[in-house]
Amino acid sequence: MSLAGKAAIVTGSGRGLGLAYAQELAKQGAAVVINDVDEQVASEAVDSITAAGGKAVAVVAPVGSTETAKALVAAAVEHFGRLDILVTNAGVLRDKSLLKMTDEDFDLVINVHLRGTFTCVREAYAYFKENGVAGRIITIGSPTGQRGNFGQTNYAAAKAGIVGMVRTWALEMKRAGVTANAVIPVAATAMTKTVPFFQKAVEADERGEAMPEFFRKELGFGTADDVAGLIAYLASDAAANVTGQAIGVGGDRLQLWSHPEAIATEYLDGGWSYEALSERFDDLFGQRLQSVGEEFPQLPAELQPEPAAK
Ligand SMILES: NC(=O)c1ccc[n+]([C@@H]2O[C@H](COP(=O)([O-])OP(=O)(O)OC[C@H]3O[C@@H](n4cnc5c(N)ncnc54)[C@H](O)[C@@H]3O)[C@@H](O)[C@H]2O)c1
Repeated sequence: MSLAGKAAIVTGSGRGLGLAYAQELAKQGAAVVINDVDEQVASEAVDSITAAGGKAVAVVAPVGSTETAKALVAAAVEHFGRLDILVTNAGVLRDKSLLKMTDEDFDLVINVHLRGTFTCVREAYAYFKENGVAGRIITIGSPTGQRGNFGQTNYAAAKAGIVGMVRTWALEMKRAGVTANAVIPVAATAMTKTVPFFQKAVEADERGEAMPEFFRKELGFGTADDVAGLIAYLASDAAANVTGQAIGVGGDRLQLWSHPEAIATEYLDGGWSYEALSERFDDLFGQRLQSVGEEFPQLPAELQPEPAAK
């Protein structure tokens, strides 16, 4: 098994994608620290791994604070004698359009996703450096962080911020042989199950059937297990040279995202005054302005969601 002898932390791993990641890492031989705020799902996650012959312990605590980050690393060291892999997956949503979004909605989402990733990665990296471990940092982004999405100011900020941190960490961690990447998943979980667009895929999954190919291929939408293979791969020795990347996965689809780059460059001696821009901006860049938001293909008629019951 490729991860035999290694130890991992997966935050928010009581259910959904985090649970699938923890189970896959355990299947590949890693001992896993399960973390969640929900004690019951955390303990069920531990049971599911130990019942399958793996090793797991639970730390029930909210990520965000340094205290929780320290407790997670300490649990890995105490129970498994080491730490090799950190997956910062815990997440919440508080979707509202900008004018309806409260300070609390903003702060909560930033605290769990962005601060939770920052504090956990800082603790794990300190351990890796001190112990000479060529560790693996796997963070979780989102299509919303890459492209923006209506009603998700807080979540877009957190997820774009995570990919920004990954680019910086890939530079800072290179000499220590530690990799840092962002996975951009799409899957049927509690977070996405109620989105009407995915209704037919979620219903097929709940009936125990394969999701229609249109969802799995065109939309890259599948089950949580479809995402877990990439997490285990990035955690493995085989991925030692993969760092600073944002990699999308879902259903049958795997994607490598580009990082932002200047796509058009113009020069003007003496610099760009208001007058010069007023005269020339439209000609230079008007046809090259970038699109925002995800563009979804039209759902075929038979895969359209049923109208909601009134
Ligand atoms: N489902 C998708 O299609 C999708 C797409 C893009 C990104 N993501 C990201 O993947 C991650 C997992 O999403 P999911 O769909 O499995 O969600 P989910 O809601 O099914 O699971 C999230 C888990 O995190 C736990 N959690 C919440 N706040 C926590 C905290 N402060 N500390 C510890 N645990 C906490 C929850 O109790 C829950 O068990 C999130 O970061 C999410 O933003 C999911």
